[in-house]
Amino acid sequence: MEEIHGEEVERRGADIDAVDAALGEPRVSLHVAALPYPANALEPHLSAETVVTHFEGHHCSNLLRLKAALQAEGRTPESLEDLVRSATGSLFRCAAQVWNHAMCWSSMTPTGGGAPRSLPIRRLVDDSFGSYAGFRDRFQDLAAARVGSGYLWLHRLPGENRITLTAAPNVANPLSQGGIPLLGFDLWEHAYYLDYRNDVDQYVEVFLDELLDWSFAERRLSGGLSQPPAGP
Ligand SMILES: [Fe+2]
Repeated sequence: MEEIHGEEVERRGADIDAVDAALGEPRVSLHVAALPYPANALEPHLSAETVVTHFEGHHCSNLLRLKAALQAEGRTPESLEDLVRSATGSLFRCAAQVWNHAMCWSSMTPTGGGAPRSLPIRRLVDDSFGSYAGFRDRFQDLAAARVGSGYLWLHRLPGENRITLTAAPNVANPLSQGGIPLLGFDLWEHAYYLDYRNDVDQYVEVFLDELLDWSFAERRLSGGLSQPPAGP
């Protein structure tokens, strides 16, 4: 395993600063994979080693596969999100891997965790789950029940001002069903094993209490609500 030192971690973070402004949120592109913060920014909750291994070994490598697949098919989609909605087979799997990972990074922040402080998202959580405690319980239950690789998604249901949580297997995400994903939580073993071994419950707790970025969810929601809900 490559050893990452402070200076190197900072350099990796700085490398992507130049492309950040052009990518929007989540930082998704058909050409560039980017972390929204330096690789050590989530320590002590997620180590730089975990973030670098995850980012380079899964996010970036899938982007390379995706670019090769698009080139082989001579296809130039409008956006990665459109591709995830419309592609099938291995092209879908590559595109979804890249998009899901961009969501995963943007769903965390070094100063995150706890109940949402902003009123619109707090009201939506209360209306949809009864309370923040209801959301937290549901999140933990679904994560504990997820056997095998997958994601936990917080998303707005198509055509409704209500949000829900879904545990999806492998690379599936709510985009394909017309949903608007607000947060993506990576439950693949590679996301936590270096730091938490098989203690998934601890990884889930740390995400909820220390990392979850409600402000990102709110920005996704504002963008999503201004668009007509996509049909299934
Ligand atoms: Fe992952």
